[in-house]
Amino acid sequence: MKIGTLNNAQALAQTHMLAFAARAERAWSAQEFDDLLAHENIHAFAAGSANAQGFILLQNLPDGAEILTLAVRPQARRLGLARALISHAENALGARRLWLEVAEDNAAACALYAVTGFRVSGRRSKYYKRAGNFSVDALLMERDRREGQSDEH
Ligand SMILES: CC(C)(COP(=O)(O)OP(=O)(O)OC[C@H]1O[C@@H](n2cnc3c(N)ncnc32)[C@H](O)[C@@H]1OP(=O)(O)O)[C@@H](O)C(=O)NCCC(=O)NCCS
Repeated sequence: MKIGTLNNAQALAQTHMLAFAARAERAWSAQEFDDLLAHENIHAFAAGSANAQGFILLQNLPDGAEILTLAVRPQARRLGLARALISHAENALGARRLWLEVAEDNAAACALYAVTGFRVSGRRSKYYKRAGNFSVDALLMERDRREGQSDEH
């Protein structure tokens, strides 16, 4: 699937909503995406033309890029899209390091990051609130640039 820059806040919000619904996490609005994309160092790359089957949003900084969010619509999962989006973004931004934060109970995302070479570099205790007065840790994960490697299909 072709991956490219996507600055369509409505499409990003729609995909974010569909991707995070099962996790009962707050969907980011189109206005929020618009505000984020107004920063010149924030970039969105999407796969699947205008309706964005999946996308990655990053903040590009001098020492690398932070993945702010990554979302794939349920019907497009396990096709290698997230893996390809990470690789594409890393190359497009020339980022020498990538890092992110993920909830420890997000099994799919933790598996994805482990298999794409991220390692746990820190932990924020009880960072995400869950229903029933329960919290889970945030894992900080990072990976250095994978010279000469590509996960894009
Ligand atoms: C996490 C998410 C982005 C993965 O997207 P995806 O396009 O399905 O991931 P990929 O197909 O690229 O998966 C690559 C590898 O990651 C691992 N993986 C991905 N999803 C997995 C799952 N549900 N269970 C176990 N391993 C998984 C597998 O090793 C997979 O390779 P395989 O399919 O050959 O076994 C997607 O499930 C999603 O949008 N989830 C909701 C939003 C979210 O949690 N975003 C991350 C926030 S930090």
